Amino acid sequence: MVKVLFVCLGNICRSPMAEAVFQQLVSDKGLDDKFVVDSAGTADYHVGEAPHEGTIQKLKEHGIATTGLMGRQVSIDDFTHFDYIVPMDEDNIHELRRLETLESNARLKKLLDYVPGTTVNEIPDPYLTGDFEETYALVSEACKFLLDDIRSENDL
Ligand code: 4NP
Repeated sequence: MVKVLFVCLGNICRSPMAEAVFQQLVSDKGLDDKFVVDSAGTADYHVGEAPHEGTIQKLKEHGIATTGLMGRQVSIDDFTHFDYIVPMDEDNIHELRRLETLESNARLKKLLDYVPGTTVNEIPDPYLTGDFEETYALVSEACKFLLDDIRSENDL
């Protein structure tokens, strides 16, 4: 099983969107039994909450399932449980590096760093921009590259 964790600040906008989009790609390729996909926030602001309605709406618009998404905060155990930890922006990766210990064997790399030649480094936060379509477009493009990378690294 390859375990993938998407991380943003609040775990209600970007990372649950990425989780749902990536899960859909995995399912479309018939790889459900090969992957565990989850998301978490560096902050505890929205623990136990459903995703932002803008994220839910955007996912539904694109025919992507939204079931089972619930806010949680990232924990130290995530670094030993997950193989790939995929933050959305520089602040997220900075916070994650503070939590990382020597036992961690997760690959920690931003989502857009999987996109070759991109000039955009961070997934914009629609909680601030209000533009869920812009975020969706970037997340969905980057998730395809991420899945391709993981498949080639793990012979899937
Ligand atoms: P996210 O967006 O990190 O993409 O889930 C945010 C959601 C909530 C807050 C900040 C960012 N907040 O400050 O509550």
